[in-house]
Amino acid sequence: MSYNFKPSIFFLGATGYLGSEFLIRLQRDFPGLQINALVRSPTPERKAQLDAIYHGTHIVPGTLEDSQIILEESSKVDIVINCASSDHKPSVFAVLDGMNQSAARRPGNPPLLIHLSGAGIIADEARGAFKDNIPEHSDIGLDLRNCPPQNTHLDSDIPIVDAGTRKDNPIRSIIIFPSGCYGVGNGVQKTSIWLRFFLEFVKKLNYVGTWGEGYNAINDVHIKDCADALMVIFKAALEGRADEGAEGLYFCASSSRVPYREWTKVMGDYLYGYGHISQPGTCPMPNDVVDSMGFYGWSLLGGNHFCNSDRLAKLGWEPTESKKHGLIETLPECLDEAWSFLSAQHFQAGAGRLLYFLYFTTLTIFTTSDSMHFLTIFAGALVTVAVTSVTARPSLHSSGFTARDEYSDLSLRSLQNEARDDYHALVVRDVLEAIYARDQGPHLEARARFAGPRGGRFAHHQKDGPDAVPPPGPSMPQNPTRPTQLDK
Ligand SMILES: NC(=O)c1ccc[n+]([C@@H]2O[C@H](COP(=O)([O-])OP(=O)(O)OC[C@H]3O[C@@H](n4cnc5c(N)ncnc54)[C@H](OP(=O)(O)O)[C@@H]3O)[C@@H](O)[C@H]2O)c1
Repeated sequence: MSYNFKPSIFFLGATGYLGSEFLIRLQRDFPGLQINALVRSPTPERKAQLDAIYHGTHIVPGTLEDSQIILEESSKVDIVINCASSDHKPSVFAVLDGMNQSAARRPGNPPLLIHLSGAGIIADEARGAFKDNIPEHSDIGLDLRNCPPQNTHLDSDIPIVDAGTRKDNPIRSIIIFPSGCYGVGNGVQKTSIWLRFFLEFVKKLNYVGTWGEGYNAINDVHIKDCADALMVIFKAALEGRADEGAEGLYFCASSSRVPYREWTKVMGDYLYGYGHISQPGTCPMPNDVVDSMGFYGWSLLGGNHFCNSDRLAKLGWEPTESKKHGLIETLPECLDEAWSFLSAQHFQAGAGRLLYFLYFTTLTIFTTSDSMHFLTIFAGALVTVAVTSVTARPSLHSSGFTARDEYSDLSLRSLQNEARDDYHALVVRDVLEAIYARDQGPHLEARARFAGPRGGRFAHHQKDGPDAVPPPGPSMPQNPTRPTQLDK
């Protein structure tokens, strides 16, 4: 179908994992639109990255805290797409204020809001414990006011539905609730927010952990399917076929639900195998760690959310990529990508600290008397540590993810690499067995090929005889009903 109407768009979160993957599809199907993207770090590199994804993107410098900018930009366009943060209320309200002005200016032709929320709205309070009969939620007939009221995202989502259903000058509102997205994306940010978030805890604790026992599970969906879903909805909305307002609520999920304790085990074994952390597998994280995120963490990461994407199915969407490549199969490559991303961020944070300290001390040396030098340098060091530690706390939005912990321990651990190589072979085998156990036999060959070149790292260490470590790969038994390592 060709579209004569070329809507103008204000885009929040264009550089993110989901946002940039969707922009790639916009470039493919709708080149030449006027897209204004809010970008908090508009460096030349960032601009070039965005331009490569959507040619001609106009950068609006600003953060989610810049309510006035967000309001003005939202009031000027036909469509606002918000893939930035489903929990940042001030920016959501600024979008709505801007769109309300626009709706009042153009009665009968309201602007459209496509807002990304998350399936965490239906989380239960399992706290990682095993539970039977977990209810499945459909998006058809879903009423946000019937969701557990404390749940994440609802504070932002309910006002959006209200704006889309009010009598006077309603806006057109659509909210999409993805479940856990996985897979390496092709956009600016290549890995999912939750994976980077998890890894921050991993780096801090030196092992992979769960909220409670980790028996809880959520649906997952491949990034490609999620971005395709956004496009299906976008096109349907342009053609006036999409459900909107009270009906404009779309779960985006495949039917796969892997308990946290299963995928975190694969994650722990894999990271341990590469010497990144000090213990393999997974275990419950201590209360003082998980409680630091309060109800929010318990609900989002210790709860179950089982949902069905019935509305997307009505529009013809299917999670085709998720069926081909499941969560566990893609974990190793996602971990590689996310680990290097965070490592680069930590390095930058360290360099930033050093510069800040040098700047502070140089300034004070030139502005204070000789007798004060030592004291001011000492104070400078304290201030630097205090400021950077506070601003570096893991957070799900706004400040992004930078960690307090340095990981000089990594270099120490690399000294032990030789001793680890045999263990590493076992770990790779564990990961592969877990994948077999999850009935993903056909894709295992691909994973085995993935393990191949890295396997080369330890291949010459392998022993012959009864203690030999079986090589990873197609020679492994392919019994999909085999119990996982966790069940042994
Ligand atoms: N990924 C999932 O599995 C999933 C599932 C359900 C719901 N969601 C929701 O979908 C949203 C996007 O997820 P994602 O994985 O795409 O996250 P992401 O990769 O972290 O992307 C977030 C985007 O928002 C921008 N942003 C964040 N804070 C900002 C601030 N203070 N000022 C300006 N821009 C800011 C980021 O800019 P920078 O590039 O500068 O960081 C980035 O473009 C999240 O709200 C999440 O809750 C995600």
